[in-house]
Amino acid sequence: MSYFALVPAAGSGFRMGGSLPKQYLPLAGRPLIYHALAALAAVPAIERVFVVLAPDDNEWARHDWTPLSGRIEVLRCGGETRAASVTNGLRAMRQMSVAVGPEDWLLVHDAARACLTADHVTVLIRAVGDDPVGGILAVPLADTLKQGGDATDGNARIVATIPRERLWQAQTPQMFRHGMLLGALEFAPAVTDEASAIEALGLTPKLVASDMTNFKVTYPLDLQLAELILRQREKEA
Ligand code: C5P
Repeated sequence: MSYFALVPAAGSGFRMGGSLPKQYLPLAGRPLIYHALAALAAVPAIERVFVVLAPDDNEWARHDWTPLSGRIEVLRCGGETRAASVTNGLRAMRQMSVAVGPEDWLLVHDAARACLTADHVTVLIRAVGDDPVGGILAVPLADTLKQGGDATDGNARIVATIPRERLWQAQTPQMFRHGMLLGALEFAPAVTDEASAIEALGLTPKLVASDMTNFKVTYPLDLQLAELILRQREKEA
């Protein structure tokens, strides 16, 4: 049984604005996706990090990936949605030089979670152990959740308060066995994370406590926050 990582990076990142896909925006001297790939590649237990790009991606080749060479492998099979990109990647990696088997562990991680560390990954791998289902990194919800009404005029009003007890914010990596995850995504393709597909099978993935530094870079301000965190780590290293 081996560990592999899969990073879907075939999105356009439209919430960020601009024409450059989010995964290639400059961040601490590198394209954004570099940082997550480097964190995953730094975990000795992970045999290979697969990256799923859009078939027509012409940005990847413009950057220098040599510090990660031998650790990452590119699959040009991105789909219409994140789930489709992951599903295509899971299928493609069965035919690669390092053959991935159905019992092997897959850690699926968003390219946009640039502040992931090797420690985050190690905590997840240890906590999941040989669990029959798998698990994800997540953070207990700190804020009170409000559901807004129709905001077509830009002025939403609160229509409900959702109790935050036992609510967690899902992060990535999300760690499941290759065979189970592929089966789950084929059964439930309209999901926004891997755990939801596993849940659709009636299974209950583990919640493994993480922290807020592993946030998803989504809006322009997030990029500044990620830059601060990464630069601070550089200074401390
Ligand atoms: O857009 P969002 O931040 O939710 O995307 C999460 C991850 O899924 C990103 O790494 C993005 O590149 C990836 N993605 C993908 N294929 C898509 C859409 C998103 O690989 N069609």
